[in-house]
Amino acid sequence: MRMSTAVALDIDGVLVRGKRALDEGRRALQMLSGANRLRRRIPFVLLTNGGGVSEADKASSISRLLGVEIRPEQVVLAHSPMRALASTYSQKHVLVVGGQQSRCADIAQAYGFGNVSTPDDVVAWSPAAWPFMPPPTAARSRDYASDPFHAVMVFHDSFDFGRDLQVATDVLRSAGATLGREFVNRQTVPLYMSNADLVFSNDYPRPRFGQGAYHVCLRAMWDALTGGAPLEYTLFGKPNKVQYQYAEHLLDRLALAADPNTDLARLHARRRIFAVGDNPAADIAGANAAGWTSVLVRTGIFDGVNDATHPAHHVADHVEEAVSWIIESAAA
Ligand code: G3P
Ligand code: MG
Repeated sequence: MRMSTAVALDIDGVLVRGKRALDEGRRALQMLSGANRLRRRIPFVLLTNGGGVSEADKASSISRLLGVEIRPEQVVLAHSPMRALASTYSQKHVLVVGGQQSRCADIAQAYGFGNVSTPDDVVAWSPAAWPFMPPPTAARSRDYASDPFHAVMVFHDSFDFGRDLQVATDVLRSAGATLGREFVNRQTVPLYMSNADLVFSNDYPRPRFGQGAYHVCLRAMWDALTGGAPLEYTLFGKPNKVQYQYAEHLLDRLALAADPNTDLARLHARRRIFAVGDNPAADIAGANAAGWTSVLVRTGIFDGVNDATHPAHHVADHVEEAVSWIIESAAA
């Protein structure tokens, strides 16, 4: 049985560093697009724990930066699988935390969440809720003293940890999840978070705090405020299985788009999926657990020989070398 190859590429620390494209990233995408010795296009998706933009915006910014056309159907962001929650919360009021506030609210609405507020909106309603900065000017405010929340969803890295810790813990422990009511020492609504990366790689010489750093602070504040009441939450993003299932679903759709007669069960039996990433705890742990073949590169937060806790199947200096190795494996 001839094996079929598919690839999932991480973005930050693999294809780009901040707003700068890596030359090896450009060449790797060209190779996957057919400029390789097999003269074959290799189906691929971008599997990132980044977010705060729509899949379409991410596809067009990466296409522009890397010079290879990426379609929105090839992009898995940290929050992409959270769209499945929209059926539960379509009419329920949710607090969306992270990123440029109105942008994450817009993304949530595009996913089908019909009733979304952000910390910006809360502070516009009551500037005393976070008195240390001038309140936002453009926000969609309402009377939060009579409009309970049903969930807190961290969609992206917080751009204002202090304020977002305050507002999220307010919602999570206010009686009836209604702001301004008395605090109760238990969690009032579910908490969902899209990306547990403690650090990530951009164009600064050393790794930067990721969304996971906000999680650490949120858990610590919750403990200190409640005296250790349990805080339950559901995590999305790599290394969680849901991300890999979502990526496999996109790869299936690419296969069907290329050939509508594709027999998916047969494809699954012979498909080998390679993941290239720079973060052992996210990219490599997740790929290994999904039964994929993992390749760790040294252009992001990792620069060793291999990771001791989450060893990759292969280690390469950069993504171009990683993709060459993948193509050799496909040819073998
Ligand atoms: O915020 C970005 C981040 O945590 C990691 O992105 O592309 O390396 O998965 P990526
Ligand atoms: Mg990365």
